[in-house]
Amino acid sequence: MSRFYSLVWLEEVSSTQDWLKEKSINCVVVARRQTKGRGRYGRSWHSDEGGLYFSFPLTENFKDEQTLPLVIALSVCQMLEDYGFLASIKWVNDVYIGGKKICGILVEKTKDRTLIGIGLNVNQKRFTDDLQATSLLLVSGREYHLADVLLKLLDRIDKNLDLLKERGFQVLREEIKKRLLFLGEEVVLYTDPPTVGILTDLSPEGYLVLMTAQGEKKVVSGNITLRGTMLS
Ligand code: BTN
Repeated sequence: MSRFYSLVWLEEVSSTQDWLKEKSINCVVVARRQTKGRGRYGRSWHSDEGGLYFSFPLTENFKDEQTLPLVIALSVCQMLEDYGFLASIKWVNDVYIGGKKICGILVEKTKDRTLIGIGLNVNQKRFTDDLQATSLLLVSGREYHLADVLLKLLDRIDKNLDLLKERGFQVLREEIKKRLLFLGEEVVLYTDPPTVGILTDLSPEGYLVLMTAQGEKKVVSGNITLRGTMLS
């Protein structure tokens, strides 16, 4: 049986992530709109009607739990491939199509659960330029049924979580590497001061491996961009 057996669909909520935190209910919660959608680093997540916004809790123990964001990003890519899109993973939590962000993933630990929040741009017709975002509608010119997309994505996530739990990250690592944005390219990691290096690998722990002027560095967290661009 799928771990996603109960689902609440709301018209509007501040944030599906916060709803789950407050309610302590174990279900998938989806909202047509969010008034205070949150992203990583305290950023807000634009949540107008047309996008798919949902969160779910995980209460199990996973092998290689730190790789959860990558495993979810892989599931998003695979689901998008099933629809005919070519999507890439921007380490560690984002999915891109054609150089623009289509999906963001938020992973938050509470005392007894891991809350996963996903924002996928589906039927939005426009974004402000500063967001450098796109939607399935903007890429393909057609609208998608949000419930279909959600169910297909949950199915992919469920299967990949089973693999992670039973066999660990290694079985998924190659699939993630195949879809990793900037592999073999020169990137900037926003540390203080910024680190520049060639992205050479994804380590067995899910860390980025950079070849820098000072030698090989493993990066545990942070935000990367392609050197010389504003793509973030
Ligand atoms: C990011 O790219 O920084 C992560 C964005 C995560 C957005 C989703 S939308 C559903 C869930 N509820 C929220 O408030 N945030 C996540």
